[in-house]
Amino acid sequence: MGITAADRTFASLIGDTESFFAQHFDRQPLLRRGALADRVGDLVTVDRLDDVLAMQAVSPAYVRLAKNGQGVSSKAYTRTTGDHATGLAETVVPERVYELFRSGATVSWNHLEHLLPPARHLADVFARTFACPAEVVAFLTPAGHDGYAPHHDPVDVFVIQIEGTKDWQVWQPPADRRGDSVRYPADQLGEPALRTTLRPGDVLYLPYGTPHAAAAREQVSLHLSVTVAPRRWRDLLVETVQELVRDEEFHDVPFLGEATARDAADGHRGRTADRYREKVAELCARLTALAADDETERLAEAGRARAGVDRSREFARLAALDALTAEARVRRTEAPVELGASLDGKTSLLVNGHRLAVPDAVADTLRALERGGSLPAGGFLAGAPEDRSVRAARQLARLGVLQAVGRAEA
Ligand SMILES: [Fe+2]
Repeated sequence: MGITAADRTFASLIGDTESFFAQHFDRQPLLRRGALADRVGDLVTVDRLDDVLAMQAVSPAYVRLAKNGQGVSSKAYTRTTGDHATGLAETVVPERVYELFRSGATVSWNHLEHLLPPARHLADVFARTFACPAEVVAFLTPAGHDGYAPHHDPVDVFVIQIEGTKDWQVWQPPADRRGDSVRYPADQLGEPALRTTLRPGDVLYLPYGTPHAAAAREQVSLHLSVTVAPRRWRDLLVETVQELVRDEEFHDVPFLGEATARDAADGHRGRTADRYREKVAELCARLTALAADDETERLAEAGRARAGVDRSREFARLAALDALTAEARVRRTEAPVELGASLDGKTSLLVNGHRLAVPDAVADTLRALERGGSLPAGGFLAGAPEDRSVRAARQLARLGVLQAVGRAEA
């Protein structure tokens, strides 16, 4: 069985990660031939893009067209649709997109990870690696046409050729790279540093600010570009300081307005400056006291959370619970649970805003599980029939109090 999109790793795309980060990342392009060999079809195919376009409600925000190196106005391939219930919306008209494509336009889909699960998995691989959001863009170029005129992008780009071939020209990044988008006139760039033809499965990495241009040859070309903009030191330090200054210590409002004559005589501005000095000293002390390991982990987690890679599969989780067997082991989740007093054999329980009364036996088991460990769902209620135990465990799992233990942890 081949590697599926879900278990694809960053190393399978760019090779040895250590040498990638030492020699190429943020420095120079990397070309990796046949990285995905014949497995690119798991990611996306030309047919899948037909399917996406055929969906009735593709927002124009997802589809862009470029012809002769220039963007095409979305008015050329959208129309206003709507009904009384939903109001008006701009939607893409597939026939017009096909017409423009036949006449030489390159079609691209932004944020393909919003539309196709394999693209979502691919974006997750990059989001985990760089601890920041990643975007997957698909480019479909008709045979014999240029995609975009020579330009550079403000983000790092990983190109994966999917179908057909594409000729790439890549120029040496300028010494003072800037994080912007720039187009270059044809005569300004000189000889490219790299001229290559990408075939299905090839991967090309371009650090941000690397000028490039690409053209399809005798076949339709489909490639994916995964883009990332990892945070710089300045971004991370700002985030750290932002977190520290949330403290009550920095909440007061100092006087910074124009001083009146009397204020000035009082030396008001001088007092504000003194207090400023104290606050800076306080902030420095807190910065110095930070545990660097914990803080870098917090920053990485915050970046991954922004990318949404930890999103749970709630429908799948709930559906799996219905199949919870007596042998399956369950344990407590992180969800806080408040157990109240016992009355007539029932204990009140508050979780996620739900209040309910559970048999005391359930409360006892929950208290025991609070200390860690797991037990089989069939033995959840000591002394009760197995099916009653399983029902109670399922109900608590639906409320988010219990979770099934994965086979690996059992
Ligand atoms: Fe580009």
